[in-house]
Amino acid sequence: MGTAALVLAGAGPVRRAFSAAPSGYPTAPRPPAGADIKEVSLVAKARPQQLLAAPAKQTAVLGYGESSVIRMRHGQWLRARLRNELTEHTTVHWHGIRLPNAMDGVPYLTQDPIFPGKEFAYEFRPPNPGTFFFHPHCDTVTQLGEGLAGVLIVEGDETRPFDADLICLYRDWRIKDDGDFGVLTTDKGAGTSGTFGSFQTVNDQHQPIFKVPANGDIRVRFLNVDMTRLIDLGVENAKAWMIATDGNALEPTPLETWRMGPAMRLDIAFRAPMKAGDRVRLMNYYAAEPIPLAEFEAEGAPLERPDFVPAPLKKPDIPEPKLDGALAFSLRLSAASKPTDLPPDLKLPDGEILRAADSLCLTQHTFWAMNGQTWPSIEERHLPPPLADFAKGGTVVIEVINGTPHPHPIHLHGHTFKVIGSNKGEVLPHFADTTLVKPNERRKIAFVADNPGAWMLHCHIIEHQETGMMGYVRVA
Ligand code: C2O
Ligand code: CU
Repeated sequence: MGTAALVLAGAGPVRRAFSAAPSGYPTAPRPPAGADIKEVSLVAKARPQQLLAAPAKQTAVLGYGESSVIRMRHGQWLRARLRNELTEHTTVHWHGIRLPNAMDGVPYLTQDPIFPGKEFAYEFRPPNPGTFFFHPHCDTVTQLGEGLAGVLIVEGDETRPFDADLICLYRDWRIKDDGDFGVLTTDKGAGTSGTFGSFQTVNDQHQPIFKVPANGDIRVRFLNVDMTRLIDLGVENAKAWMIATDGNALEPTPLETWRMGPAMRLDIAFRAPMKAGDRVRLMNYYAAEPIPLAEFEAEGAPLERPDFVPAPLKKPDIPEPKLDGALAFSLRLSAASKPTDLPPDLKLPDGEILRAADSLCLTQHTFWAMNGQTWPSIEERHLPPPLADFAKGGTVVIEVINGTPHPHPIHLHGHTFKVIGSNKGEVLPHFADTTLVKPNERRKIAFVADNPGAWMLHCHIIEHQETGMMGYVRVA
Protein backbone atom coordinates (compact mmCIF):
# COMPACT_ATOMS: atom_id res chain seq x y z
CA MET A 1 0.00 0.00 0.00
CA GLY A 2 1.26 3.48 -0.79
CA THR A 3 2.16 5.70 2.05
CA ALA A 4 -0.52 8.26 1.38
CA ALA A 5 -3.21 5.63 1.06
CA LEU A 6 -2.22 4.10 4.34
CA VAL A 7 -2.50 7.35 6.16
CA LEU A 8 -5.52 8.74 4.41
CA ALA A 9 -7.67 5.63 4.36
CA GLY A 10 -8.30 5.69 8.09
CA ALA A 11 -11.59 7.11 9.28
CA GLY A 12 -11.66 9.87 11.83
CA PRO A 13 -9.06 12.51 12.42
CA VAL A 14 -6.07 11.88 10.23
CA ARG A 15 -3.60 12.11 13.02
CA ARG A 16 -5.17 9.12 14.74
CA ALA A 17 -3.86 7.02 11.86
CA PHE A 18 -0.67 6.96 13.90
CA SER A 19 -2.34 6.05 17.13
CA ALA A 20 -0.93 3.28 19.26
CA ALA A 21 -4.23 2.69 20.81
CA PRO A 22 -6.95 1.68 18.39
CA SER A 23 -9.22 1.14 21.36
CA GLY A 24 -8.40 4.52 22.79
CA TYR A 25 -5.97 5.85 25.29
CA PRO A 26 -5.70 4.74 28.91
CA THR A 27 -7.69 6.56 31.56
CA ALA A 28 -6.73 7.61 35.05
CA PRO A 29 -8.63 7.98 38.31
CA ARG A 30 -9.81 11.49 39.13
CA PRO A 31 -9.15 13.06 42.51
CA PRO A 32 -11.88 12.01 44.95
CA ALA A 33 -14.28 14.57 46.40
CA GLY A 34 -12.58 16.64 49.06
CA ALA A 35 -9.07 15.73 47.88
CA ASP A 36 -6.31 18.15 48.74
CA ILE A 37 -5.32 19.45 45.32
CA LYS A 38 -2.40 21.59 44.30
CA GLU A 39 -3.66 23.53 41.29
CA VAL A 40 -1.25 25.07 38.84
CA SER A 41 -1.55 26.48 35.40
CA LEU A 42 1.23 26.10 32.90
CA VAL A 43 1.35 28.17 29.75
CA ALA A 44 3.88 26.88 27.26
CA LYS A 45 5.18 29.78 25.21
CA ALA A 46 8.20 31.88 24.40
CA ARG A 47 9.14 34.46 27.01
CA PRO A 48 12.15 36.49 25.90
CA GLN A 49 14.87 36.56 28.50
CA GLN A 50 18.27 38.23 28.77
CA LEU A 51 20.42 35.11 28.95
CA LEU A 52 23.61 36.60 27.55
CA ALA A 53 24.81 39.98 28.72
CA ALA A 54 24.10 42.99 26.50
CA PRO A 55 24.81 43.87 23.73
CA ALA A 56 23.42 40.41 22.99
CA LYS A 57 19.68 40.62 22.59
CA GLN A 58 17.11 38.71 24.55
CA THR A 59 16.67 35.03 23.77
CA ALA A 60 13.22 33.65 22.95
CA VAL A 61 13.30 31.10 25.75
CA LEU A 62 10.38 28.67 25.90
CA GLY A 63 8.91 28.12 29.33
CA TYR A 64 5.84 27.18 31.33
CA GLY A 65 5.55 30.53 33.12
CA GLU A 66 5.09 31.25 36.80
CA SER A 67 4.45 27.65 37.74
CA SER A 68 7.57 26.28 36.16
CA VAL A 69 8.74 25.41 39.66
CA ILE A 70 6.02 23.51 41.47
CA ARG A 71 6.33 22.76 45.15
CA MET A 72 3.68 20.55 46.66
CA ARG A 73 3.29 18.33 49.70
CA HIS A 74 3.43 14.58 49.59
CA GLY A 75 -0.14 13.29 49.78
CA GLN A 76 -1.59 16.11 47.71
CA TRP A 77 -2.92 15.67 44.20
CA LEU A 78 -1.51 17.79 41.45
CA ARG A 79 -3.80 19.32 38.88
CA ALA A 80 -1.66 21.00 36.25
CA ARG A 81 -3.53 22.56 33.39
CA LEU A 82 -1.33 23.10 30.39
CA ARG A 83 -2.23 25.67 27.78
CA ASN A 84 -0.24 25.37 24.59
CA GLU A 85 0.74 28.74 23.19
CA LEU A 86 3.59 27.32 21.15
CA THR A 87 3.45 27.14 17.38
CA GLU A 88 3.45 23.33 17.42
CA HIS A 89 1.90 20.59 19.49
CA THR A 90 3.27 19.45 22.82
CA THR A 91 2.57 17.34 25.91
CA VAL A 92 3.96 17.25 29.44
CA HIS A 93 5.87 14.25 30.68
CA TRP A 94 6.34 14.07 34.47
CA HIS A 95 9.78 12.57 34.59
CA GLY A 96 10.34 10.08 37.39
CA ILE A 97 6.80 10.08 38.75
CA ARG A 98 5.14 6.68 39.03
CA LEU A 99 1.77 7.90 37.82
CA PRO A 100 -1.09 6.34 35.89
CA ASN A 101 -0.18 5.71 32.24
CA ALA A 102 -2.83 8.17 31.02
CA MET A 103 -0.98 11.04 32.70
CA ASP A 104 2.46 10.16 31.33
CA GLY A 105 2.35 12.72 28.54
CA VAL A 106 3.65 10.70 25.61
CA PRO A 107 1.89 11.77 22.41
CA TYR A 108 0.16 8.97 20.51
CA LEU A 109 1.09 6.42 23.18
CA THR A 110 -0.83 7.81 26.16
CA GLN A 111 -2.70 10.81 24.77
CA ASP A 112 -3.26 12.93 21.70
CA PRO A 113 -0.85 15.81 21.30
CA ILE A 114 -2.03 19.11 22.73
CA PHE A 115 -2.31 21.33 19.68
CA PRO A 116 -1.61 25.07 19.68
CA GLY A 117 -4.36 26.94 21.45
CA LYS A 118 -5.55 23.81 23.22
CA GLU A 119 -5.42 22.72 26.87
CA PHE A 120 -5.00 19.52 28.78
CA ALA A 121 -5.28 18.90 32.53
CA TYR A 122 -2.87 16.46 34.16
CA GLU A 123 -4.12 15.06 37.45
CA PHE A 124 -2.24 12.62 39.63
CA ARG A 125 -0.99 12.05 43.13
CA PRO A 126 2.80 11.60 43.29
CA PRO A 127 3.42 8.44 45.28
CA ASN A 128 6.75 9.67 46.65
CA PRO A 129 8.33 12.89 47.79
CA GLY A 130 11.43 14.00 45.93
CA THR A 131 13.03 16.07 43.20
CA PHE A 132 11.43 15.62 39.78
CA PHE A 133 11.05 17.57 36.60
CA PHE A 134 8.73 17.83 33.64
CA HIS A 135 9.26 18.42 29.97
CA PRO A 136 7.68 17.90 26.55
CA HIS A 137 7.92 14.55 24.84
CA CYS A 138 7.67 15.57 21.24
CA ASP A 139 10.06 17.53 19.09
CA THR A 140 11.98 17.60 22.31
CA VAL A 141 15.19 18.73 20.67
CA THR A 142 13.49 22.01 19.81
CA GLN A 143 11.16 22.44 22.74
CA LEU A 144 13.49 21.34 25.53
CA GLY A 145 16.46 22.76 23.66
CA GLU A 146 14.84 26.18 23.67
CA GLY A 147 14.13 25.92 27.37
CA LEU A 148 10.82 24.15 27.94
CA ALA A 149 11.17 22.32 31.26
CA GLY A 150 9.92 22.71 34.80
CA VAL A 151 10.76 21.40 38.26
CA LEU A 152 8.39 19.44 40.47
CA ILE A 153 9.33 19.23 44.14
CA VAL A 154 7.23 16.94 46.28
CA GLU A 155 8.00 17.85 49.86
CA GLY A 156 7.78 15.59 52.86
CA ASP A 157 10.93 13.49 52.84
CA GLU A 158 12.90 15.34 55.50
CA THR A 159 13.49 13.88 58.93
CA ARG A 160 15.16 17.10 60.07
CA PRO A 161 14.56 20.46 58.40
CA PHE A 162 17.33 22.12 56.42
CA ASP A 163 18.20 25.79 56.80
CA ALA A 164 18.10 26.23 53.05
CA ASP A 165 16.64 24.12 50.25
CA LEU A 166 17.93 25.18 46.85
CA ILE A 167 17.14 24.05 43.34
CA CYS A 168 19.99 24.05 40.84
CA LEU A 169 18.73 23.38 37.36
CA TYR A 170 21.64 22.88 35.00
CA ARG A 171 21.66 23.21 31.25
CA ASP A 172 23.80 24.22 28.36
CA TRP A 173 22.28 26.56 25.81
CA ARG A 174 22.88 26.28 22.09
CA ILE A 175 22.99 29.98 21.66
CA LYS A 176 24.84 32.38 19.36
CA ASP A 177 26.73 35.47 20.46
CA ASP A 178 23.84 37.71 19.47
CA GLY A 179 21.45 35.87 21.77
CA ASP A 180 19.57 33.91 19.12
CA PHE A 181 19.40 30.15 19.32
CA GLY A 182 22.03 28.38 17.28
CA VAL A 183 21.84 24.95 15.74
CA LEU A 184 20.13 22.60 18.18
CA THR A 185 21.04 19.38 16.48
CA THR A 186 23.37 18.18 13.78
CA ASP A 187 23.61 14.78 12.13
CA LYS A 188 27.15 14.52 13.36
CA GLY A 189 26.07 15.20 16.93
CA ALA A 190 23.01 12.99 16.78
CA GLY A 191 25.09 10.13 15.42
CA THR A 192 27.80 10.51 18.08
CA SER A 193 27.66 11.91 21.59
CA GLY A 194 25.25 14.74 20.86
CA THR A 195 25.39 18.39 19.88
CA PHE A 196 26.77 20.53 22.66
CA GLY A 197 25.83 24.04 23.64
CA SER A 198 28.16 26.84 24.53
CA PHE A 199 26.59 28.61 27.48
CA GLN A 200 26.15 26.63 30.66
CA THR A 201 23.76 27.91 33.27
CA VAL A 202 22.31 27.03 36.63
CA ASN A 203 18.81 28.49 36.97
CA ASP A 204 19.42 30.39 33.73
CA GLN A 205 22.47 32.19 35.11
CA HIS A 206 26.09 31.51 34.38
CA GLN A 207 27.90 30.56 37.63
CA PRO A 208 25.36 32.13 40.00
CA ILE A 209 26.11 32.81 43.65
CA PHE A 210 23.49 31.72 46.16
CA LYS A 211 23.45 33.25 49.63
CA VAL A 212 23.08 30.68 52.39
CA PRO A 213 22.93 31.07 56.18
CA ALA A 214 26.40 30.76 57.73
CA ASN A 215 26.88 27.38 59.41
CA GLY A 216 23.46 26.30 58.14
CA ASP A 217 22.48 22.88 56.86
CA ILE A 218 22.03 23.17 53.13
CA ARG A 219 20.12 20.94 50.74
CA VAL A 220 20.83 21.32 47.05
CA ARG A 221 18.61 19.64 44.52
CA PHE A 222 20.71 19.41 41.38
CA LEU A 223 18.99 18.57 38.11
CA ASN A 224 20.79 17.94 34.85
CA VAL A 225 18.14 19.06 32.43
CA ASP A 226 20.50 19.44 29.49
CA MET A 227 19.84 17.30 26.41
CA THR A 228 23.43 16.19 25.98
CA ARG A 229 25.96 17.05 28.66
CA LEU A 230 27.38 14.64 31.17
CA ILE A 231 28.51 16.05 34.47
CA ASP A 232 30.78 14.76 37.22
CA LEU A 233 29.21 16.64 40.08
CA GLY A 234 31.33 17.49 43.07
CA VAL A 235 31.68 20.06 45.82
CA GLU A 236 34.72 22.10 46.84
CA ASN A 237 35.29 23.64 50.22
CA ALA A 238 32.84 21.52 52.20
CA LYS A 239 32.22 17.87 52.80
CA ALA A 240 29.05 17.03 50.92
CA TRP A 241 26.80 14.00 51.09
CA MET A 242 24.51 12.46 48.52
CA ILE A 243 21.08 12.05 50.06
CA ALA A 244 18.87 11.21 47.07
CA THR A 245 19.30 9.93 43.53
CA ASP A 246 16.63 10.89 41.01
CA GLY A 247 14.57 12.06 43.98
CA ASN A 248 14.78 8.77 45.88
CA ALA A 249 16.32 8.80 49.35
CA LEU A 250 19.76 7.30 49.65
CA GLU A 251 21.50 6.47 52.90
CA PRO A 252 23.73 9.59 53.20
CA THR A 253 26.89 8.79 51.26
CA PRO A 254 29.97 11.02 50.99
CA LEU A 255 30.04 12.75 47.63
CA GLU A 256 33.32 12.38 45.81
CA THR A 257 32.01 12.90 42.32
CA TRP A 258 28.81 11.57 40.79
CA ARG A 259 28.43 11.17 37.07
CA MET A 260 25.14 12.47 35.81
CA GLY A 261 23.72 12.16 32.34
CA PRO A 262 20.79 14.18 31.04
CA ALA A 263 17.66 13.89 33.22
CA MET A 264 19.49 12.64 36.29
CA ARG A 265 19.08 14.39 39.62
CA LEU A 266 21.14 14.36 42.78
CA ASP A 267 20.17 15.80 46.15
CA ILE A 268 23.14 16.74 48.26
CA ALA A 269 23.57 18.07 51.79
CA PHE A 270 26.42 20.06 53.31
CA ARG A 271 27.18 22.50 56.09
CA ALA A 272 27.64 26.11 54.99
CA PRO A 273 30.86 27.89 56.01
CA MET A 274 31.02 29.47 59.46
CA LYS A 275 32.32 32.79 58.23
CA ALA A 276 30.15 35.17 56.24
CA GLY A 277 31.58 35.65 52.74
CA ASP A 278 33.17 32.20 52.54
CA ARG A 279 31.99 30.07 49.68
CA VAL A 280 31.33 26.46 48.78
CA ARG A 281 31.61 25.63 45.11
CA LEU A 282 29.58 23.22 43.05
CA MET A 283 31.88 21.77 40.40
CA ASN A 284 31.74 19.84 37.19
CA TYR A 285 34.83 17.63 36.89
CA TYR A 286 33.78 16.13 33.58
CA ALA A 287 35.95 18.55 31.65
CA ALA A 288 39.61 19.12 30.90
CA GLU A 289 39.61 21.84 33.54
CA PRO A 290 37.04 21.53 36.35
CA ILE A 291 34.24 24.04 35.78
CA PRO A 292 32.49 25.84 38.65
CA LEU A 293 28.73 25.57 38.15
CA ALA A 294 27.52 27.66 41.10
CA GLU A 295 28.68 28.99 44.44
CA PHE A 296 27.09 29.16 47.85
CA GLU A 297 28.16 32.12 49.96
CA ALA A 298 27.65 32.16 53.71
CA GLU A 299 25.91 35.22 55.10
CA GLY A 300 24.84 36.45 58.53
CA ALA A 301 25.84 35.36 62.01
CA PRO A 302 26.64 31.66 62.13
CA LEU A 303 23.75 29.48 63.18
CA GLU A 304 24.32 27.45 66.29
CA ARG A 305 24.44 23.86 65.23
CA PRO A 306 26.07 20.69 66.52
CA ASP A 307 28.68 19.08 64.25
CA PHE A 308 27.25 18.24 60.88
CA VAL A 309 25.89 14.77 60.41
CA PRO A 310 23.49 14.57 57.48
CA ALA A 311 20.06 13.29 58.41
CA PRO A 312 18.79 10.58 56.07
CA LEU A 313 15.66 11.35 54.09
CA LYS A 314 12.61 9.18 54.62
CA LYS A 315 12.76 5.91 52.72
CA PRO A 316 10.63 6.03 49.59
CA ASP A 317 7.79 3.58 49.34
CA ILE A 318 9.12 1.68 46.34
CA PRO A 319 8.57 -2.06 46.07
CA GLU A 320 11.81 -3.93 46.57
CA PRO A 321 12.68 -6.07 43.53
CA LYS A 322 12.80 -9.81 44.27
CA LEU A 323 15.68 -11.12 42.23
CA ASP A 324 14.80 -14.74 42.82
CA GLY A 325 12.63 -15.83 39.93
CA ALA A 326 12.82 -12.42 38.27
CA LEU A 327 12.25 -12.10 34.54
CA ALA A 328 15.51 -11.33 32.74
CA PHE A 329 15.41 -9.00 29.76
CA SER A 330 18.37 -7.79 27.69
CA LEU A 331 18.33 -4.37 26.11
CA ARG A 332 21.00 -3.93 23.48
CA LEU A 333 21.98 -0.43 22.48
CA SER A 334 23.54 -0.18 19.07
CA ALA A 335 23.88 1.98 16.02
CA ALA A 336 21.09 1.44 13.52
CA SER A 337 22.07 -1.29 11.06
CA LYS A 338 22.04 1.32 8.38
CA PRO A 339 21.18 4.96 8.84
CA THR A 340 17.75 5.50 7.32
CA ASP A 341 16.01 8.56 6.09
CA LEU A 342 12.39 8.96 6.94
CA PRO A 343 9.94 9.24 4.07
CA PRO A 344 9.04 12.76 3.03
CA ASP A 345 6.29 14.76 4.68
CA LEU A 346 2.80 14.32 3.32
CA LYS A 347 0.61 17.05 2.02
CA LEU A 348 -3.00 16.39 2.93
CA PRO A 349 -5.91 17.42 0.69
CA ASP A 350 -6.68 20.39 2.91
CA GLY A 351 -3.13 21.64 2.41
CA GLU A 352 -1.97 20.70 5.87
CA ILE A 353 1.46 19.15 6.07
CA LEU A 354 1.71 15.94 8.02
CA ARG A 355 5.22 15.22 9.11
CA ALA A 356 6.08 11.63 8.39
CA ALA A 357 8.02 11.47 11.60
CA ASP A 358 5.23 12.88 13.68
CA SER A 359 4.17 9.64 15.31
CA LEU A 360 6.67 10.51 17.99
CA CYS A 361 8.27 13.57 16.58
CA LEU A 362 11.44 12.11 15.29
CA THR A 363 14.08 13.98 13.42
CA GLN A 364 14.79 13.05 9.84
CA HIS A 365 17.32 10.26 10.34
CA THR A 366 17.72 7.06 12.24
CA PHE A 367 21.12 6.42 13.76
CA TRP A 368 20.35 4.24 16.78
CA ALA A 369 18.52 1.09 17.72
CA MET A 370 17.36 -0.84 20.76
CA ASN A 371 17.39 -4.58 20.29
CA GLY A 372 17.83 -3.92 16.60
CA GLN A 373 14.58 -1.98 16.45
CA THR A 374 14.33 1.65 15.53
CA TRP A 375 11.39 3.91 15.77
CA PRO A 376 9.21 4.03 13.83
CA SER A 377 9.30 0.95 11.71
CA ILE A 378 9.19 2.72 8.44
CA GLU A 379 7.16 0.24 6.43
CA GLU A 380 4.05 0.66 8.50
CA ARG A 381 3.52 4.08 9.93
CA HIS A 382 2.50 2.75 13.26
CA LEU A 383 4.12 2.53 16.60
CA PRO A 384 6.56 -0.35 16.54
CA PRO A 385 5.73 -3.38 18.64
CA PRO A 386 6.76 -3.09 22.29
CA LEU A 387 10.29 -4.10 23.17
CA ALA A 388 8.85 -6.42 25.79
CA ASP A 389 5.72 -7.41 27.66
CA PHE A 390 6.00 -7.74 31.42
CA ALA A 391 3.50 -9.44 33.69
CA LYS A 392 2.11 -7.04 36.24
CA GLY A 393 3.55 -7.54 39.70
CA GLY A 394 6.66 -9.47 38.68
CA THR A 395 10.23 -8.37 39.14
CA VAL A 396 12.11 -7.59 35.95
CA VAL A 397 15.88 -7.42 35.66
CA ILE A 398 16.98 -5.48 32.62
CA GLU A 399 20.55 -5.85 31.51
CA VAL A 400 21.38 -2.82 29.39
CA ILE A 401 24.18 -3.75 27.02
CA ASN A 402 25.90 -0.79 25.49
CA GLY A 403 27.58 -1.84 22.28
CA THR A 404 28.28 1.72 21.18
CA PRO A 405 31.31 3.92 21.85
CA HIS A 406 29.14 6.50 23.64
CA PRO A 407 27.54 6.64 27.08
CA HIS A 408 23.73 6.57 27.15
CA PRO A 409 21.49 7.71 30.02
CA ILE A 410 18.66 5.17 29.84
CA HIS A 411 15.29 6.17 31.23
CA LEU A 412 12.24 4.07 32.01
CA HIS A 413 8.85 5.68 32.47
CA GLY A 414 6.33 4.82 35.15
CA HIS A 415 8.68 2.86 37.42
CA THR A 416 11.61 3.44 39.69
CA PHE A 417 14.34 0.85 39.34
CA LYS A 418 17.26 -0.17 41.44
CA VAL A 419 20.70 -0.14 39.87
CA ILE A 420 22.11 -3.48 40.99
CA GLY A 421 25.23 -4.29 39.01
CA SER A 422 27.68 -3.67 36.23
CA ASN A 423 30.45 -5.57 34.48
CA LYS A 424 32.57 -2.44 34.92
CA GLY A 425 32.98 -2.80 38.65
CA GLU A 426 30.97 -2.23 41.74
CA VAL A 427 28.01 0.09 41.67
CA LEU A 428 26.42 1.83 44.60
CA PRO A 429 22.96 0.24 44.76
CA HIS A 430 20.47 3.08 44.43
CA PHE A 431 17.01 3.83 43.13
CA ALA A 432 16.75 5.78 39.92
CA ASP A 433 14.63 6.40 36.86
CA THR A 434 17.58 7.18 34.58
CA THR A 435 20.96 5.48 34.63
CA LEU A 436 24.08 6.21 32.65
CA VAL A 437 25.47 3.21 30.78
CA LYS A 438 29.08 3.49 29.69
CA PRO A 439 30.51 2.20 26.42
CA ASN A 440 30.86 -1.59 26.59
CA GLU A 441 29.10 -1.65 29.91
CA ARG A 442 26.46 -4.20 30.82
CA ARG A 443 24.47 -2.56 33.55
CA LYS A 444 21.72 -4.29 35.50
CA ILE A 445 18.63 -2.63 36.82
CA ALA A 446 15.73 -4.29 38.62
CA PHE A 447 12.20 -3.21 39.38
CA VAL A 448 8.76 -4.51 40.18
CA ALA A 449 6.58 -4.05 37.10
CA ASP A 450 3.60 -2.90 39.12
CA ASN A 451 2.28 -0.06 36.99
CA PRO A 452 0.10 -1.17 34.08
CA GLY A 453 0.45 0.55 30.73
CA ALA A 454 2.78 1.26 27.84
CA TRP A 455 5.96 2.85 29.15
CA MET A 456 8.71 4.50 27.20
CA LEU A 457 12.23 3.20 27.57
CA HIS A 458 14.75 5.46 25.89
CA CYS A 459 18.02 7.28 25.92
CA HIS A 460 17.76 10.75 27.45
CA ILE A 461 20.35 12.25 25.16
CA ILE A 462 17.47 13.70 23.24
CA GLU A 463 19.14 13.51 19.85
CA HIS A 464 19.68 9.78 20.40
CA GLN A 465 16.10 9.34 21.51
CA GLU A 466 14.75 11.11 18.46
CA THR A 467 16.99 9.21 16.04
CA GLY A 468 15.94 5.76 17.11
CA MET A 469 17.14 4.95 20.63
CA MET A 470 13.63 4.74 21.91
CA GLY A 471 11.09 2.06 22.51
CA TYR A 472 8.45 1.06 25.00
CA VAL A 473 7.56 -1.86 27.20
CA ARG A 474 4.09 -3.00 28.17
CA VAL A 475 3.02 -3.97 31.66
CA ALA A 476 -0.26 -5.84 31.98
CU1 C2O B 1 12.41 12.67 30.72
CU2 C2O B 1 10.72 9.95 28.19
O1 C2O B 1 11.60 11.33 29.41
CU1 CU C 1 22.11 7.82 23.98
